[in-house]
This record gives sequence, structure tokens and C-alpha cells, in this order.
Amino acid sequence: MTHLLVTGASGLLGLNLSLLAVAQGFRVTGWVHTHGLKHAPFSIQQVDLCELDSIAARITEIKPDLIIHCAALANLEAAEADPGLAQRLNADAAGRLAQIAAERQINLVHISTDAVFNGQRGDYTEEDEPSPLGVYAQSKLAGELAEQEANSSAIIARVNFYGWSLSGVRSLAEFFFNNLQAGNPIKGFTDVLFCPLYVAQLADILLEMVAKKLYGVYHVLSTESLSKYAFGLAIARRFGFDENLITPISVQNAGLLAQRSLSLTLKVDKLQNDLGHVLPEQAEGLEAFYQAYQNDIPKQLRACL
Ligand SMILES: NC(=O)c1ccc[n+]([C@@H]2O[C@H](COP(=O)([O-])OP(=O)(O)OC[C@H]3O[C@@H](n4cnc5c(N)ncnc54)[C@H](OP(=O)(O)O)[C@@H]3O)[C@@H](O)[C@H]2O)c1
Repeated sequence: MTHLLVTGASGLLGLNLSLLAVAQGFRVTGWVHTHGLKHAPFSIQQVDLCELDSIAARITEIKPDLIIHCAALANLEAAEADPGLAQRLNADAAGRLAQIAAERQINLVHISTDAVFNGQRGDYTEEDEPSPLGVYAQSKLAGELAEQEANSSAIIARVNFYGWSLSGVRSLAEFFFNNLQAGNPIKGFTDVLFCPLYVAQLADILLEMVAKKLYGVYHVLSTESLSKYAFGLAIARRFGFDENLITPISVQNAGLLAQRSLSLTLKVDKLQNDLGHVLPEQAEGLEAFYQAYQNDIPKQLRACL
């Protein structure tokens, strides 16, 4: 049985991925930081990845066959407010993990972001030079570089995703869902384009990439892009909420601290070729997100606390 270590196992991706991996027959150990996850159906350890010198000993304890590194300071505004923490967690800890994995021949998947590009052009391939805006994106690119320097056999997955989370408020889809359900008027950016996957689709694809022994940089996203406003409208329609609650605006008028990349449309041809099948379109992901709600997935996630 493959022993999988998931860092950030209490996060949006980490928790959904851990549960899916358990269902697929993996033995999972999840590393968390501040969330206990007392009732998770897999083993949990509390680890502060900023304590770089303790990581090797913690890995020796559990001897995983595979690490999927999801932990990060993933909130753009929080990263902007604390660049030192962003560098330590998103770059230095990633480099340390990559080094340990390389020394011990542990397979590794490093989760990066579509935001390594500045979004001025769109349609980026893995061959394009990254051009990150803001502290979060810069620290994630530094993480990729540290990872690549230490470990040439790891997968570096540039992702964007949504889904149901432990807190119920982590993802953009939950932001739209919660506010629309409450009847609150909200705003949706018409000029920020992205290609998100539903988190369970992403988790599935990551495990498939490992099974196929892929390595190197990959864009792991939907084949289709849409604006954040259009994404909100699609959620309103699927759940039967009033779509007029969403006002279209430009991100330039949103008063956000961290700069946002506008056209985060990334090409997924490399991954589709290497997996031998197409990646999901938006409608498929939104339907899976809706069906997960019908099947009480939000409640099941919160029951892990
Ligand atoms: N969400 C997106 O759409 C998106 C888009 C592009 C890329 N990504 C990338 O995808 C990955 C997962 O993102 P996410 O949205 O799932 O993140 P998230 O929900 O914000 O979760 C972050 C995870 O990191 C853990 N963590 C934070 N500080 C830590 C520390 N000092 N030591 C150990 N663990 C720590 C947290 O643990 P506790 O909660 O227990 O404190 C949590 O499990 C990240 O690499 C992120 O950069 C996300």
C-alpha cells in the first residue's frame, strides 16, 4: 500500500485530496499546522513547516513513498502583509522538502500556482518565462525554483481550483455560494480570467500523474477559461440563486492590496498529451461541485474537525 504524506492536509486541496486518496486505497498521513482534524479517517500530525530543521526528522518518523506538498501561505493579502513568512513557507520549506525527497528517493508533487504569470498576455505554456506579480506569486515561483534545484524528478503542478473546504469559506466558489444563499449582493470581476478545476478533479489528476511517473512542470487546469464574474453566475444558475445579486466590476476598482494577474489562461496541452486524455471543461467541474453539495460533502469535511 502506498504511504502518502499530504502537507497542508487541513487546507482546501489537502483535505479533499487526502480523503480521495484514502478512498483510492492509499495509506495517508496528513500534516496540519493549526487545525487538529481529530476525526479525519487518516493519520494526522501537527508540523510547523517554518521550522525547517525539524522537517527531515519528521519525515524519518513516517517514511512515506510519496509526498504531495499542499501546505502554503496561500492567501494573497496575508502574503502581501508578511513577505518573510511567505518566503519561508512557500519557498524555503518547499526547497527543504524537495531536498529531503531527493536524498531519500521519495516521489514528490509540489503544488504551485497559475499566478506565476503576470496575466498580461494569457495562453501561457510551460515553456513561457514566469513573471509573478506580488509577494504571494513571487514566493511561489521561488518555491518552484528551489524545488527544481533540489529535485529534478518531482512534479511541479501549477493549479487553480475551487471546492468545499473545512472552514466553509476558503474557496471562491464558497464565497459565491454563501453570499448568494444568504441573499447578499456581491461583486464579480469581469476582467480576471482563470481556468479552475473542481478540487476532487484536481486531486484525481494529480494521483494519475504520479501513477504515470510524470515529472517536471505541468499546468493542471481546466481546458476552458472564464471570468470570475461568469464563474459566480454559473454557480448562481446551478444552485438556483438570483444571479442579479452579482454586480460585474473591474478588479482595478476592488481596493485589494495584492496585485492580481488578469488573464490566467494557461495551456494544458502538455498534460493532455502525456495523460492521453482531455482535461475537464467548466460545466463538468461545476456539476461535480453541485453534486458534492447534494451528497453532503461540506458536512463530511467539517466532521473531520
Ligand atoms: N486555492 C486556490 O485556488 C489556489 C490557486 C493556486 C494555487 N494554490 C496552491 O495550492 C496549494 C493549496 O492551497 P489551498 O487553497 O488548499 O490552501 P489553504 O486552504 O489555505 O491551506 C493551507 C494549508 O497550509 C497549512 N499551513 C499553513 N501554514 C503552515 C505552516 N507554518 N506549517 C505547516 N502547514 C502550514 C495549513 O494548515 P492549518 O490550516 O492546519 O493551519 C493548511 O493546511 C498551495 O500551494 C497554494 O499556493 C491554491
